[in-house]
Amino acid sequence: MEKKYILAIDEGTTTARAIIFDHSGKKIVTARHHIRQIYPNPGWVEHDANEIWNAVQSSIATAFIESGVKPDQIESIGIANQRETTVVWDKKTGLPIYNAIVWQSRQTSQLANDLIEEGHKEAIHKKTGLIISPYFSATKVRWILDHVDGAQERAENGELLFGTINTWLLWKLTGGESFLTDYANASRTMLFNINTLDWDDDLLKLLNIPRKMLPEVRTNAENFGSTKNYHFYGSQVPITGMTGSQQASLFGQMAFDKGNVKNTYGTGAFAVMNTGEEPALSDNNLLTTIAYGVDGKVNYALEGSIFVAGAALQWLRDGLRMIKETPDSEAAAERSTDIDEVYVVPAFSGLGAPYWDDEARGTVFGLTRGSNQDDFVKATLQSIAYQTKDVIETMSSDTGIPIDVLKVDGGASANNYLMQFQTDILNIPLERSSDLETTSLGVAFLAGLGSGYWKDIDEIKQNYHSGERFEPKMTDTLRDNLYAGWKDAVSATMAFKH
Ligand code: G3P
Repeated sequence: MEKKYILAIDEGTTTARAIIFDHSGKKIVTARHHIRQIYPNPGWVEHDANEIWNAVQSSIATAFIESGVKPDQIESIGIANQRETTVVWDKKTGLPIYNAIVWQSRQTSQLANDLIEEGHKEAIHKKTGLIISPYFSATKVRWILDHVDGAQERAENGELLFGTINTWLLWKLTGGESFLTDYANASRTMLFNINTLDWDDDLLKLLNIPRKMLPEVRTNAENFGSTKNYHFYGSQVPITGMTGSQQASLFGQMAFDKGNVKNTYGTGAFAVMNTGEEPALSDNNLLTTIAYGVDGKVNYALEGSIFVAGAALQWLRDGLRMIKETPDSEAAAERSTDIDEVYVVPAFSGLGAPYWDDEARGTVFGLTRGSNQDDFVKATLQSIAYQTKDVIETMSSDTGIPIDVLKVDGGASANNYLMQFQTDILNIPLERSSDLETTSLGVAFLAGLGSGYWKDIDEIKQNYHSGERFEPKMTDTLRDNLYAGWKDAVSATMAFKH
């Protein structure tokens, strides 16, 4: 019999990727296509949903061509995606009625503020686990229904569908047959009740969003339908895993036990802690979200979402032209002789957890006549580590669970300077995954569980290889001093509003 593989689709904010894994969890190929970022107004970020679909299809084709794996050798498919990003499309034509509004976009700030002012904060937190923010899908759907002519009426007539990117891709791959989402993605919409595991009628009423435009919600590993052969090079292959990118990397990092925490350093950084089978609500503005629903059990998580991490390095490269490639930041930081007096707060689109300040904007503190480019690069890298400390400390105090190791992954975790500074400033050891792209591995595992390719979580654990470890070396006094400086920098940033 011919060998079988799992195909993971990882549709992220900046690239769409197709990755093929074999039964030992080994990556056979990765193919990627870029996603164009559309900035119609300051603070707004949009994508073309059809372009996303095309980029996914092209990545799949490239993966087959480069690996020699044939489409009928794919046992099943998993989809991981940038979460919250919102698409509304016409059920009949399949055409989106507006661009996809990206998770980072701030065009619905006013709607979010109105909800806060009307006093919905506590009820929404209890039902959805989320704080009210333009980050989540709910206000984005409302915005599209308000800004596209006739959209509300068409939605009420059942002519329009809403989905996050997983739902959009599933609907496209299955030729419009499957209109479904999963617990993890649904828990990021601010419309889903994480206690009842259903869309919440009160919230739908509050936002005037018709239930008929929402997909049915399923677990993270089950049969979501099959590809149409005309969309998958002649093969009908089941899609058996689906989840949001950050929940996928939690799964890919084998964080199956209560108290396990991972941090992914991508465009943003997302620290997620598995909190077990009961939702734990944060007193300090962390998000409660669904980690995964597998085999009849739902695990919850606490999450600290940092909006700007790797994006700050791209800004150093493209905006300030201080480095040629983002990995060059490591050498620049090593060259810097500054005694860590410079602080960069990269609040380009506000501050995420635990501050949640949409109005904050980036700042730099502590420059002297002697400050140079390398110092600036180093301070930017350090800002990623400081923001991570903010959320990890909050997590630990909210749950009362001491964190003995932080599992790390994502592009910027390859930066050894950043990892050493991270472990030093946290005073917690880091374990860097041997494969930095744990998102694709995680959703491949879910798809393999959903189709029986892997029997259970124990079998999956055997296919995981952990990587390098980083141990803290910094003195307590230095750590405390540096972190106190960061806290002052953040307070001053939040006080500056012009
Ligand atoms: O919440 C947004 C997050 O899912 C972004 O994902 O895949 O672009 O790092 P990604």
